[in-house]
Amino acid sequence: MTARDVILREMGLTPVWRTRSNDAVVTTGEAASVTTAIPTASAPPVALAETLEARSAAIANMSWSDLRDSIASCSACSLSKTRTHTVPGVGDLAPSWMVIGEAPGENEDKQGEPFVGKAGQLLDAMLSAVGKKRGDGVFIANVIKCRPPGNRNPEPSEIAACAPYLKRQIALASPKLLLAAGKFAAQTLLNRDDTVGAMRATGGSYEGVPVVVTYHPSYLLRSPLEKAKAWEDLIKARSIVP
Ligand code: URA
Repeated sequence: MTARDVILREMGLTPVWRTRSNDAVVTTGEAASVTTAIPTASAPPVALAETLEARSAAIANMSWSDLRDSIASCSACSLSKTRTHTVPGVGDLAPSWMVIGEAPGENEDKQGEPFVGKAGQLLDAMLSAVGKKRGDGVFIANVIKCRPPGNRNPEPSEIAACAPYLKRQIALASPKLLLAAGKFAAQTLLNRDDTVGAMRATGGSYEGVPVVVTYHPSYLLRSPLEKAKAWEDLIKARSIVP
């Protein structure tokens, strides 16, 4: 299922097809319990699908500054209604390592920068332990750029809506290594529906870039005994890209 399909399904707008007799569209599903033929001029489902494709294509050509502006004004999902700031990412724009987290929390939403709370302090300490520093050879971003209310897990539709941004960030940054912190980053980068433990064991790659999976710093704050495993992950990452 494509990201477009996920978003359309979440919005109750699938399946979508054109009628034979004219250029109208018909929708089924919860959003269209009353099945309606809509004239092409105001055909939201098809137009939406085309818009989603056009949006992805436009994002795929953006510069860093275009990307920042586009994220700042994004309203592709409902998180735009509750966020204070978007959190595009921070750091070296030509990094050797790129760290991908899950989503902004309360502090990040206030400041517009990823990993600035307690989890961020731990992430900085972990990076420092292997001679790495945010902003110096390291770029940090999240799978989604707006805070989910109450720090709930991101919805698949939100991840899908933000995916073109993450993809473009990785293409522009062209890192030599991706460090996936936590389940959502690992699942998104590896396109797997698996546990962190299973993904840690195998790692993988994203568009040819090696992906090392580790535990999310927030999880490590709750389960400090797992820090030893995170240390192993960092050593592994450093052995791949010093
Ligand atoms: N957790 C994340 O995954 N990202 C942040 O930016 C902060 C906390």
